[in-house]
Amino acid sequence: MKTARTPLEKAVALDPSWYARPDVYEAELKHIIAPHWQVIGPAGAVSDAGDVIARDIGGIPVVVVRSPEGALNGFYNICPHRAGPIATCDRKGLKRLRCAYHGWSYDFDGRLRAAPEMQDAEGFEPARIRLTPIDVIEWNGLIMARAGDGPAFDELYDGVMDIAGSAAMSKLVFHQGRRYAVASNWKVYVDNFLEGYHLPFVHPGLTQLVDYADYKTELGRWWSLQRSPVEGSGPYAAGEGLYFFIYPNVMLNIMPGRLQTNRVVPTGIDACVVEFDFYYAPGAETRALEDLEFSEQVQEEDRLICEHVQKGLVSGAYRPGRLSPAREAGVWHWHNLLRDAYAANGLPESAV
Ligand code: FES
Ligand SMILES: [Fe+2]
Repeated sequence: MKTARTPLEKAVALDPSWYARPDVYEAELKHIIAPHWQVIGPAGAVSDAGDVIARDIGGIPVVVVRSPEGALNGFYNICPHRAGPIATCDRKGLKRLRCAYHGWSYDFDGRLRAAPEMQDAEGFEPARIRLTPIDVIEWNGLIMARAGDGPAFDELYDGVMDIAGSAAMSKLVFHQGRRYAVASNWKVYVDNFLEGYHLPFVHPGLTQLVDYADYKTELGRWWSLQRSPVEGSGPYAAGEGLYFFIYPNVMLNIMPGRLQTNRVVPTGIDACVVEFDFYYAPGAETRALEDLEFSEQVQEEDRLICEHVQKGLVSGAYRPGRLSPAREAGVWHWHNLLRDAYAANGLPESAV
């Protein structure tokens, strides 16, 4: 459902109740996070038979495995016996999938292979039991997955690679992942990502590397892109910085010779974890340490401001403020996608 939208020149931010209501949070996990494609790790983490990664998509534990035949399969990480975990962490080279609770084991296509001590269970049919599958693909060296039935991948990511350049992306090599807990609603983190307006005030160091005056925002159907010239000092070569946000929780931060992926994982109404993965072009690894330190500094600045904003939003003392047409087109675009999703799932704004 798409409803009429207030033009950016007249727009206000999202109502603060959307950041505080338990029913909204539950609906977001189910209807906004779970059904949409998101980056869950580097392809290299599941390059060989028996490699497994375990993640959370919209509150659903999931596993992705590489089968001996080379297929990439994904499942709920939930054993059909009594909901035990098939994988409790990332693993390499497993011979089979085995539940960590009572040892039921599964083939890499999800079929139950063995269930110990179930011989007296009447009518128990192992052949009918299998892990619930999810959609997984490999895309430019990234593992993309979803745990539901939203828009097709090609629709959601339409046009992203035309700008990012798949040739350059495919040469990048995974370096490391980092995880950051933020004590704010997951949408506060996304809101903050979507504008460079805060750069001079929150990130004085970053403002020296990117050209704030020439910072531009472009809007796609499901994504927005901020781009700016990069000066060529500090950890980055001169060129252009591209900062993609792809609905509902993925960011691709592309600097010359470097990709940083982010996935915002809600962990409570007022808590999220942001997964960062860093990739570098061969030869650019020498800049990696400097980049990692710098990224950590920027992330800490964002974490602090998001946590302050969270307190203001849920205080009961804030009413939605006007947006800057010059600097907050990405926020407006994202809030409108959220408003559409809320309306489509029976959460009308007028009922707030
Ligand atoms: S919950 Fe998996 S074997 Fe019991
Ligand atoms: Fe920031």
